[in-house]
Order: sequence, then C-alpha cells, then structure tokens
Amino acid sequence: MCGIVGYTGSRPAAPLLIEGLKRLEYRGYDSAGIAVEEGASIKAVCRTGKIAQLEQSVTPLHLTGACGIGHTRWATHGEPTEANAHPHLACDGSIAIVHNGIIENHGELRRILEERGHAFASETDSEVIVHLIEDAYSMLAFEASEEDDLTDAAGMRVPHTVAAEMSAGEPSLLAQAVGMACGFLIGSWALCVMAEFEPGKIVCARKESPLLVGCGADGVHVASDVTALAGHVEQACVLADGQIAELDAHAFNVFAQDGEMLTKVDADLMVLDARMDAADRGQYPDFMLKEIHEQPRVIRDTLEDRFDGTRLTIDELGLTHEELNLIERVYIIACGTSYHAALVAKNLIEGWARIPCEVEVASEFRYRNPIITPSTLVVAVSQSGETADTLAAIRDARIKGAKVFGITNVQGSPVARESDGVIYTRANKEVAVASTKSFTGQIVSLTLLALLLAQSKGRLNQGQIRLLFSELVDTAAQAEAILRDVQSVKEAALACKDARSAMFIGRGMGAAVAEEGALKLKEVSYLHAEAYPAGEMKHGPIALIEPGFPVIAVATESPTYEKVLSNIQEAKTRGAFVVAVATEGDERIGQHADRVILIPKVRDALSPITAIIPLQLLAREIALLRGCNIDQPRNLAKSVTVE
Ligand code: M6R
Repeated sequence: MCGIVGYTGSRPAAPLLIEGLKRLEYRGYDSAGIAVEEGASIKAVCRTGKIAQLEQSVTPLHLTGACGIGHTRWATHGEPTEANAHPHLACDGSIAIVHNGIIENHGELRRILEERGHAFASETDSEVIVHLIEDAYSMLAFEASEEDDLTDAAGMRVPHTVAAEMSAGEPSLLAQAVGMACGFLIGSWALCVMAEFEPGKIVCARKESPLLVGCGADGVHVASDVTALAGHVEQACVLADGQIAELDAHAFNVFAQDGEMLTKVDADLMVLDARMDAADRGQYPDFMLKEIHEQPRVIRDTLEDRFDGTRLTIDELGLTHEELNLIERVYIIACGTSYHAALVAKNLIEGWARIPCEVEVASEFRYRNPIITPSTLVVAVSQSGETADTLAAIRDARIKGAKVFGITNVQGSPVARESDGVIYTRANKEVAVASTKSFTGQIVSLTLLALLLAQSKGRLNQGQIRLLFSELVDTAAQAEAILRDVQSVKEAALACKDARSAMFIGRGMGAAVAEEGALKLKEVSYLHAEAYPAGEMKHGPIALIEPGFPVIAVATESPTYEKVLSNIQEAKTRGAFVVAVATEGDERIGQHADRVILIPKVRDALSPITAIIPLQLLAREIALLRGCNIDQPRNLAKSVTVE
C-alpha cells in the first residue's frame, strides 16, 4: 500500500515522477505528492485524490529540477487530506521524505520530538521519520565539523557536507542520518529521502516494505515496484531488509547497518521481467475487462511446459519426488481472492492426492500457533507477492520448520524470495484492483500442484493425469466461448443493479466460486453481498430474503447439483430473484431461476476456472450501471502491505 518513486539524473524529475506514480496508482489513490530540488531548495506539491489532480497542479509550475521523490497514498494514520499527503518536510523544509509502511511507535516518537521543539504539520505516523532524520543529521554534521574543523579561505567554519563529497563506498552524512533515524523506528518502511544540503542525492531505506533501485541511461531510479521502473532500467536491485541505498545522478551504493556504521555491500541485481511492464488497456474501456478477457491466455501460459505426455513437472518447486512423497499435510495461506483460489485447491488436494489440506486466511494463521511438522507443506498464494499478512505467515511457518512454497504473479517479489520454491502464475501485470486473471492463474497453478502431489503419492495414474491435464488445457477454449457471448450477463446485471444486497450460493467447488463472486461484486459495485454454502442458507441467511432479493447461484453440473436446485427453490419460494450460472444443456434450471447464464460443460473439479468468469463480468457490469470506478474502487489498494 502506498507507492513511492524517486529519480536523480539529467532529465527534469517532475514528469518522470508523475509518470511513475501513475503506474503505481493501484497501490493507493487517496492523495499524492512530489518533492523536487529546485535550485538550492526543495519544492513540494501535494494533492488529495488521484495522480491526475496532482499532475494538474504540477504542470503550470514548470519544475525543472533533476532530482525528486514522489508518493501515492493509501491512508492508514490520518485522513486523506493535503496535510497528511506525502512528501513530509523537516521543520525548516530542508529535508523531504516519502514513506510506505507503518511506524508503530510513532506516538511515542512524536511526543519526544515535540518536546525537542519539532513542529508537526500532519497527523501521519510517517512524519516522525523526517524529524528524526533532521535531528540525526544535525548531530552528525556537528560531530563531523568538530572532527574535521573545516574552515573556508576566510577561516570561517563551513558545513561538513560542502566538503564531504560521497567518495566511492563512503555513505554521506544524510545516509548515516537515515540509518540512525531508522534505528529508532519500530514497524515497516520503504523510504526515500532528499535534502537541500545533499544536492542531487536520494537516500533510500527499507524494512519489510518493498523498494527497488536501478540505473538507467539518463539517471538512477527508485520505486516500490518493477512497474514504475519498466522502460527506464533493465536491471534493478531489490533492497533487502535493513539496507540503505544512496543514489546520485550516475550510480548507487547499497549499505548494510553494521552496529552504528554503514558498510557498503554488493548490490544484488535482478533482470526485470518485460511482461511486468506498465500494461496498456488496448481497445478495452477498463483494465478489469481487459484482464477478464486475458484469462484464456493465462490458462494456456500457466500450463505451458508442465506435462510431457508422461509426467507432470514443476521444477521451480525445488522439491524432489521423495520430498513430495513425504508430505502429510498441506496448509494454504492467502488473503482475499487468493484465499478463494486456495479454497478451490483444498478440494483438489484432498480429492486427488488424499492429503489433508487446511486453508487459512494469512492474518489468522500467524496468530494461531498452527500445528506444523517436518512433513507439512505450507503454500502461500499471493498475486502481488507482497501482502504483509501473507509474508508474516510465511516467516512464521519457516521459523516453525515448514517448507514454504509460493504461488505468485510477481517475479522477485518478497513471497518469491522468501519461499523455498515458487510457481509464477504467468498472468502478467494485473492492474485492476479487483483480481480476475490472477485468480485463474492461481487456480490453474494450484490444480497443477494437486496433480503433482497425486502423481507423487501414486494416487492418480498416468492415464488419469493425462486426461485431467488435457481437460485443464481445454478450459482455455471454454473460457473463450463464455467471453464471446455475454448477453445473459448483461440482462442479469440490469435486473440486479438497484438491489441493496445480494446473496451468492453454491456447494463444493461452487461454494468457493460463490465466495469470489460476492467479493468481486462488493469490491467494484459497492453492493453488499454475502456468500454462503447453499446448504447453510436455511440456517440463518434465508431470513434476509424478501421479494426481489437477488440470489446468485452457482448451479453447474456437479454431484450436488440436485441439492443446489432445492436450495434455489427454497429461495425462490420466498420471492428471491434468482440468477443461476448453469451448464449448457441444463433444461431444468430455467424453471427455477429468473435469469440463467449458461457455460460449457466442464468437469466439476475444474469448473471454478470457467464458472467464475460470468460472475466477474456480472460484478463489472453492475458496477458500470451504478457509475462506479471499475479499476480503482474506493478505499482499496492493489497491494496490501500493511497488517
Ligand atoms: O496480492 P495478493 O494476492 O496477496 O492480495 C490479496 C488480496 O488483497 C486481494 O486478492 C484482494 O482481495 C483483491 N482486491 C481481490 O480482488
């Protein structure tokens, strides 16, 4: 949550910062701001709302400085006002910072800093950082000038930094001050700092929140993620926890805190994945629709090179056949949509591999002391690969001795780096805040994992795996067929758009699809929605049903189809307006549902891959009819990097 960018080089920084912030806007869009070095001072501009608002304010200012930092905010501490927008400035305006993360001890630090005479301009936790750096810098500069006894030609003492150019491998005083300030912080941070007295420099620091630095042809760039660096740099260094980087117009140095000293370390460079470049909406009106339509391609890409006709392989897993065979329990940890993909996988892992599988929301898993033994495999699923709760759960599981396997969409993301093995979902960059194609990539990857476990355990034979794999491949064409005819979805959306609430029901695989369908509707249309396993409806939620109340039923062909049909009738009897997602050729469903969305026949185990598509489209269509912002729903951010 929150996106930060920085640039120092030979080009005007402001347009580059705005462009970078636009690319990071999915990380938060409550307010935005930039700070640019203009002559000998720092000029900061902040606005509430989207980056477009900021851009309108910045354009007439003709900022020409070639060093600057920027921020797009998802508010945690302090309302989304201009005062709370980043960058935050030191009391005298000489230092500017942007921060992503949470400073847990900000209350205590603020009290101490106020006692020391610092004046705060915002309610944010982040502002303590700039005041701490201000104090640390004054102290270090004083000590340095005492030691060096620097004097000019007239015998006057001159500020240390005027004389102390960053020599190769030596951290500047600003970098040291940032290191010292970080020593007082508890929480998480990705920071960019610039100061009037260190012209052309940006100092960055990181703990738990992501930050990447890379050199381009005309300067050095820093950003919260690859998206903002794409096209500017080919390789980037993902800063590790506790590291500090110092950038000038030509290069950057990375330092690790070594007691009170900063010691230079080698920058670990990663080649950027071109597929994660800033995406283009193409002919589509919004990214969500584009990404829904990309799902057939995601299915094909995710399955490529996985099955040679005889054996299924996932080399990235990093586990031998013997190790896989020893697995006796699987935990899948995830949040949001990724959690719903995990619910699908539980059925497959238990059904095919006969291994007990528990699925848990990451934020609960880590506080619950789960039973983990050496034969437990923990699978962490995360599109962004940087969800704070999922990461915390991974760390916890590893401390408890589990092997952790990540399923993520982002190369080099913390989930990828902190897991023992990883499958990339090959969905490519997902821009819309509401996940769609990454859900499909996750289900397909988890299906492969379930098949692999079944193969290793000898629970499915070669012929069965071949058949299932080929049916999995076929879902791509079936998804294409669904996307070709969306008329029934549009009609259902028109009928439901004025509802205040909706219920999604299904059983087995359909229950997981119902959960995801309800989440999509809530996220993009702000219509209240609840998902229930269809059989649970009679235990309480049925009381909600009154004439016209929308019930969206996943009623595809499955062993529980008859039961779902009965549940639909129970709802219908009480006046519900029923929309059913059902299988082509189903001649009975039309007698019970008010609207029917037919999809091709798919084996029940694979049905979530196709059954979710109409529900994604339905949510988007209702949101459109209600005039909502499809790609950037209110209050949300794509990467949830706070716990
Ligand atoms: O990046 P992750 O998969 O870890 O994100 C988890 C959730 O924050 C995410 O799925 C969220 O629920 C989406 N907005 C759903 O559309």
